[in-house]
Amino acid sequence: ASTLGASAAERGRYFGTAVAANHLGEAAYANTLNAEFNSVTPENEMKWDATEPNRNSFTFGNADQIVNHARSRGMRVRGHTLVWHSQLPGWVNSLGASDLRAAMTNHINQLMGRYRGQIHSWDVVNEAFVDGNSGARRSSPFQDRLGNGFIEEAFRIARAADPNAKLCYNDYNTDGINAKSNAVYNMVRDFVSRGVPIDCVGFQSHFNSASPVPSDYQANLQRFADLGLEVQITELDIAGSGTAQANDYTRVVNTCLAVSRCTGITVWGVTDKYSWRSGDTPLLFDGNYNKKPAYTAVLNAL
Ligand code: XIL
Repeated sequence: ASTLGASAAERGRYFGTAVAANHLGEAAYANTLNAEFNSVTPENEMKWDATEPNRNSFTFGNADQIVNHARSRGMRVRGHTLVWHSQLPGWVNSLGASDLRAAMTNHINQLMGRYRGQIHSWDVVNEAFVDGNSGARRSSPFQDRLGNGFIEEAFRIARAADPNAKLCYNDYNTDGINAKSNAVYNMVRDFVSRGVPIDCVGFQSHFNSASPVPSDYQANLQRFADLGLEVQITELDIAGSGTAQANDYTRVVNTCLAVSRCTGITVWGVTDKYSWRSGDTPLLFDGNYNKKPAYTAVLNAL
């Protein structure tokens, strides 16, 4: 096939991108999105600060715009993200444990309820572990007030809120086998053994010279898949340009294709022009929406 989405579909997978609502009015942006991708992730519009800036006062306009754009064109939607330490409005920080538990429950129920049946996978909890060798949990209002059980609580609430959505744990620097991915693996294996509802693990896959595509990427994804879970590459971008970048993209696509439970790849943006990695050119289309060597490499690998 001649587009990323159609080629991925022939391999039984989706090929998605992060989307920002404020760019949908730009013709070249929308045309590239519509032509090439068959899944979208709202880049910021479903985060807590965007959707519940004040307690129990919800704002869904920008998220609705992305969901409507996608679904009216037959694209799938990933939900991102329900419980995360970042992009959290200040009011959440000041709650005591019982209020925070109630607020987390309400937030998950409101978000998942609004889009019930319309989201293929939700990042229920994002980035709950620290970097480095400790395998420890990251400090956050949720971790600090509710304790280690907050992740399990969030997944149980999420299952009830939308039984048709795949429930994912999502993180970065967990792409290869290391102390952080070991900690996530141990948590997820425990969830599976105790019947805590979880369906998928998201590997953000933000790569650059300090954090290159790991040599044990496939082995790592496979060990999670062997727990019976889906794995998804959720926020892919690779710093660089030209042939080196193209070859790295080929390796990522081949990794997903080699793991039968790897169900899809999402790149973290349509065009280098709007990448969150300002100063880098980590995506498949350049700032003028021209296809880069990385684009051709992905299309050929699919
Ligand atoms: C980033 C967005 O791309 C930026 O626009 C925003 O300013 C900060 O967040 N991990 C995640 C994503 O899970 O939500 C982050 O997205 C990138 C890192």
